[in-house]
Amino acid sequence: MAYSQTIMSQIVLPEQANPAGNIHGGEIIKMMDNAAYVVARKHCRTNVVTARVDELEFYQPIFVGQLVTCKGQLVFVGRSSMEVLVQIEVEDLSSDQPPVVALKAFFTMVALDENCRPVEVPRLILETEQEKMAFEEGEKRYQLYKRKRQKKA
Ligand SMILES: CC(C)(COP(=O)(O)OP(=O)(O)OC[C@H]1O[C@@H](n2cnc3c(N)ncnc32)[C@H](O)[C@@H]1OP(=O)(O)O)[C@@H](O)C(=O)NCCC(=O)NCCS
Repeated sequence: MAYSQTIMSQIVLPEQANPAGNIHGGEIIKMMDNAAYVVARKHCRTNVVTARVDELEFYQPIFVGQLVTCKGQLVFVGRSSMEVLVQIEVEDLSSDQPPVVALKAFFTMVALDENCRPVEVPRLILETEQEKMAFEEGEKRYQLYKRKRQKKA
């Protein structure tokens, strides 16, 4: 599990923001999606696509010049799907304040084979109680999403 953890940082640039200096939401989501992709690919070593992003709620404004750090880690794997928790922290490098969490979301990534069909991914090795609990929670969401899709079909 630890192997696929990914951390990416960048300074928010003016072209990523609105005229008041707030970063566009889409820029943050792109960064999160990219981190989820890296985590999933490190785990399964095949092509992956994003199948679902759960609720996104921005708790904190993020401004031009601030440091944004995106942290991704695997939570759960099914047969071909992988749930990745992605968290965004924001930090003002001109102050001594520690980084604060601006948002987090679960991304469901699906591994595909060379014919673009879902393919089985390696099992997750759970080492800590926290990882086991997070996996169980991930499994509940996985079952819930499945039921929702079955209802729609
Ligand atoms: C995701 C995708 C590959 C699933 O294909 P599918 O033929 O429906 O495959 P399946 O029904 O066999 O599902 C495969 C796995 O994905 C999961 N899955 C599929 N759709 C899902 C959804 N909307 N939310 C969560 N999980 C989903 C299934 O639970 C299954 O998991 P498991 O193998 O761990 O049990 C297909 O819908 C697709 O290609 N979507 C477009 C993805 C894309 O282009 N994303 C980029 C952003 S636009």
